Amino acid sequence: MIGIFDSGSGGLSVLKALRERAPQADVVYFGDLKNAPYGNKSREELGALTVLGIQKLIDEGATEIVSACNSVSVSIVLPMFEILDIPRASIIEMVGPTVSAFKGKVARVLIVATRATIESGVYQNGFRMIGISADGCVLPDLVQLIEGGGSTEDMVTMVRTALEPYRDAGYTHLLLGCTHFPLVREIFEEVLTTLSMSIELVDPAHAVADAVVARFDTSGTGRTDLMVSLESPTFERFSAECVGSACNVRTL
Ligand code: DGL
Repeated sequence: MIGIFDSGSGGLSVLKALRERAPQADVVYFGDLKNAPYGNKSREELGALTVLGIQKLIDEGATEIVSACNSVSVSIVLPMFEILDIPRASIIEMVGPTVSAFKGKVARVLIVATRATIESGVYQNGFRMIGISADGCVLPDLVQLIEGGGSTEDMVTMVRTALEPYRDAGYTHLLLGCTHFPLVREIFEEVLTTLSMSIELVDPAHAVADAVVARFDTSGTGRTDLMVSLESPTFERFSAECVGSACNVRTL
């Protein structure tokens, strides 16, 4: 069984992409809303929360893990595999598959993500490894607005303010480096249109879901078990949108 982990609703964008490719996979999902947002926490805090989150999924029967949270990618370190007693190949995180999908492309990438992701340099370093130049733009409070059910107007203003300085900078791709952001993709589309920015929007969920299908066991009965550490109407709404309303959400 595949376990998917995020701070909250964001990983549902990855679950949705996985469901499109592997409807029969058995999936257990954990959204750690009690400790959300993750994007403003330190690398050390995120490491500890990642171990706890993955352990919960293992306790529920997961044997292969998708870390659907960009903010923790840099905190997934080698000792963690010994601590959790799982093989290295049994975790897929967001950055590796996303950067790999750019191999051989000519691109200049602007990454929008949380503070933890941008300040860790994890994407910028990954892109440097394949000869692609990439810069980061922090959107520190968008996750709170999304989880808090904020208004479209507030989100548009926040995204527009962040992207306006990059308007004429010649980027070819805008990478949604936080799994929450594809849940409000239309906000980004609206802002790009308003700013007349011609740039390709990239949702990493697709590269990650491709990696999952290539490497993990996606056979099963199509069961989806959703768990959160704090009850949330926003999570209920996004989960109904992403995987259908038939799925129950358990609060741990
Ligand atoms: N969705 C997560 C990410 O991809 C975490 C967002 C947060 O909790 O700040 O970074």
